[in-house]
Amino acid sequence: MLTSICCLLSLTSCATAYAVLDKRASVSGTASVRLDVSTGSPHQLASGILYGIPEDQNQIPDVFFRDIAFKYCRAGGAQLPGRGWIGSRQGYQTRFQSALSNYKTTRKYGGTFILLPHDIWGADGGQSKSAVYPGDNGDWTDYDTFLTQLISDLKKNNMNDGLVIDIWNEPDLSIFWNRPQSQYIQMWGRTYHRLQRDLPGCVISGPSFANGPSNSNSWWANWSSFIAQNQSAPQQYSWHMEGGGGDMQSSVANYKSILSSRGLATDRTININEYAVFDEEFAAGSAWWIAQLERVNAFGLRGNWLSGYALHDFMASLISKPGAANAYNPTAGGYFPTASWQVYKYYAQNMTGTRVQTSPTADLRGEVYAVVSDTTVRLLVGSRVATGTFNIQLQNLAAVGLPQSGTLNIHTWGFTSSGDHYARLDAPADLGSYGHAYSGNTLSFPIYQKDAYTAYAFEFSR
Ligand SMILES: *[C@@H]1O[C@H](CO)[C@@H](O)[C@H](O)[C@H]1NC(C)=O
Ligand SMILES: *[C@@H]1O[C@H](CO)[C@@H](O)[C@H](O)[C@H]1NC(C)=O
Ligand SMILES: *[C@@H]1O[C@H](CO)[C@@H](O)[C@H](O)[C@H]1NC(C)=O
Repeated sequence: MLTSICCLLSLTSCATAYAVLDKRASVSGTASVRLDVSTGSPHQLASGILYGIPEDQNQIPDVFFRDIAFKYCRAGGAQLPGRGWIGSRQGYQTRFQSALSNYKTTRKYGGTFILLPHDIWGADGGQSKSAVYPGDNGDWTDYDTFLTQLISDLKKNNMNDGLVIDIWNEPDLSIFWNRPQSQYIQMWGRTYHRLQRDLPGCVISGPSFANGPSNSNSWWANWSSFIAQNQSAPQQYSWHMEGGGGDMQSSVANYKSILSSRGLATDRTININEYAVFDEEFAAGSAWWIAQLERVNAFGLRGNWLSGYALHDFMASLISKPGAANAYNPTAGGYFPTASWQVYKYYAQNMTGTRVQTSPTADLRGEVYAVVSDTTVRLLVGSRVATGTFNIQLQNLAAVGLPQSGTLNIHTWGFTSSGDHYARLDAPADLGSYGHAYSGNTLSFPIYQKDAYTAYAFEFSR
C-alpha cells in the first residue's frame, strides 16, 4: 500500500490490513538483550518518511527534522492536480516541481531523496481505469519521451547528490500497475539501462513491491530471474512492509534466498521504503519498527496513510498542528510533536554508543532496541499493536561492567500515546526509577503494555 488514496480506491486491501490489527493481539513472552554482543554503530536507519513534506520548504521548522536525525524522504508529487505526465505537460510540471522542492528540503537536512517516477507519470492510484501505462501495445515512444524529459529536468536542477530513483512503486498492486507482469519487467529493463546510460552513477532502487520477498510470489520470482540475466540489479533493494504482518528477519532471509539462488549478491543496501500500517504509527509501533529495522541493518521509511495535501504534510504522522484532524489547512504552521516524534528524537539524541544484539518475544509482538554508551545502557521498548505483559531479559550484565548479582536501578520514560495520531506530546513522561534485584548475571523485568500505543525507554548506569 502507499497512501490512503488506496484506502479510498481499493477498500479491500486496506480493510484486510485493518482487520488483522483490529483484533488487538496480545503480547507475552520475553524479549532479550545480549549486552555482550555488539552490532555496530547506530545510524537511525528507521528515520525516513514517505512524503510528509510541504512544497513550502520553510513550513515545517528545522527542529522537527534535525532533532530526529532525519535520513530519507520518498516522493514524486502524488495526488497533486493535473495527473502528472499522462494528464498534461502542466500536470507533469506540477508534480516534478513538488518533487524538486521535497528533494531540496531533504538535502537541507542531510537526507537522501527517493524519487517516484510513477507519481510524476500519473499512476498514483487515482488514475482512471483507462489510464495509459509505459509500453502499452508494445509502444514505448511516450514513455521514452517521459524519461527524456525527466532526465533532462534532473540534470537541469542538479538533482544528483543524495538521489535514489525508484523505478516503479508497487507494480504488484493493480492500482499502481494495471498491466501484465511481463510489461512491468520490460519497463524495468529499459528504464534501468536508460538511467545508467544517461545518469552515470545514479542509484536505482526497486522493486518496491507491496508484498515482501517470497519464493512463491511470481513477481519476486520473475523479476529477480530477469534482473540477473538482464544485468539490472538495483543498487538498493526495496520492498514494503505494510500488511500488518510479517517481520524483518524472515523477510530478509527470504530476500537473500531468492537472490542467492539466482547468483545475485545479497550485500546491497536494503530499504523498506514504506513500513508500518496506520495503526502501527503510534509510539509503541514506532519502537517496534525501529528494533526490527536496526536488527537487520535495513533503512526504513514510515508509510503515509494521509490523503491529498495532508499526504504532503505531517512528516508521515510524526508531527501535528492546530486543526489537523478537523479543520485542516495545508499551508498553516504551528507544528507540535506527537509521541511518535518523541520516540524518534530519543532514538537519535539519546540512543548513542554501540548497538547490542536483541531478540523479540517469540510471538514477535514485543520488541527492544538497545545501545550501550560509555556510561549508560538504553533500551527502547514497544509492542506491535498489542497489549499484555512481556519481559525484557538483560543477558550478561558483566559485559558492561556490572556485578553478577545485586540490585540494578532502572530509570523509565514513557512515550505516552493514545489512539489519536494528532495528539501532542512535548516530552516523554519521567516514570521514575526502580531497583530490580538480580543474580546469575541476568535480569528480567516486566513490561506492562496496557495500551497498544505507548512506548517505553529504560536507562541504567554501567
Ligand atoms: C513468471 O514467469 C513464468 C516463467 O517465465 C511465466 O510462466 C509466468 O507466466 C510468469 N508470471 C506472470 C504472472 O507473468
Ligand atoms: C534488458 O532488458 C531490456 C528490456 O527488455 C532490454 O532492452 C535490454 O537490452 C536488456 N539488457 C541486457 C543487458 O540484457
Ligand atoms: C536525551 O538527551 C538530551 C541531550 O543530551 C537530554 O537533554 C535529554 O534530557 C535526554 N532525554 C532523556 C529522556 O533522557
